[in-house]
Amino acid sequence: MPELEIPLLEALHSTPARRYLSPEPIGDDVIRAILDAAIRGPNGGNTQRWAWIVLRDPEVKKRIAGFYREGWEGSYGKLREFMQTQPESADGTGPANFRAGDHLAAHLEEAPVWVFPVLLGAAKSANPRLGASIYGAVQQLMLAARAYGVGSVITTLYSGHEEEVRELLGLPEDALTMALVPLGYLSRGRWAQPKRKPLDEVVFFDRYEAR
Ligand SMILES: Cc1cc2nc3c(=O)[nH]c(=O)nc-3n(C[C@H](O)[C@H](O)[C@H](O)COP(=O)(O)O)c2cc1C
Repeated sequence: MPELEIPLLEALHSTPARRYLSPEPIGDDVIRAILDAAIRGPNGGNTQRWAWIVLRDPEVKKRIAGFYREGWEGSYGKLREFMQTQPESADGTGPANFRAGDHLAAHLEEAPVWVFPVLLGAAKSANPRLGASIYGAVQQLMLAARAYGVGSVITTLYSGHEEEVRELLGLPEDALTMALVPLGYLSRGRWAQPKRKPLDEVVFFDRYEAR
């Protein structure tokens, strides 16, 4: 189970969304190590009202990939032709990024392992900060995956079919899936630094100022 020796800050600066994922299997020991790092993440009151569903069943993946594709087409399908005419952009929102999203939608079920982070008792919650009790841990999952050379991306475009997904995964009625994170070794691309707005555009000391 070889893991990379990688300084923490370097990992934080080199874990972008990875959407070209190889079907090569990932060992159970690696998956367990990744999840063991994830569940060390923060959650309100340390109540850990969560479940982490590791999905490998090809038939169930196929069903949910269909839901995802429907969500992708509904949100982005209409942009496909337009994006092909656009120049590449420096901010990571250009045609290459679109093609990566399109590729993921077409090949989602090929990623060998999917993880659904689930919040129990959350389906009817009106708490706007609900996600804070799991998304930190999800980021830990993605960083731990990075340590094993495994790529990932947070996705939510399946969620128009939340009820069917809940049933397929055998979740209780009051549970809410918070994401679908496909995991796979990289079939393309590299561990580049995520592109973001300059620090000084988004950071404010003491008081927010409209810019
Ligand atoms: C709440 C949330 C939902 C997301 N849903 C999707 C999704 O359904 N499909 C997808 O390809 N990426 C999805 N992403 C990934 C974002 O597109 C990605 O984090 C963002 O573009 C930054 O990518 P980068 O870190 O590679 O620069 C989602 C991210 C978040 C935080």
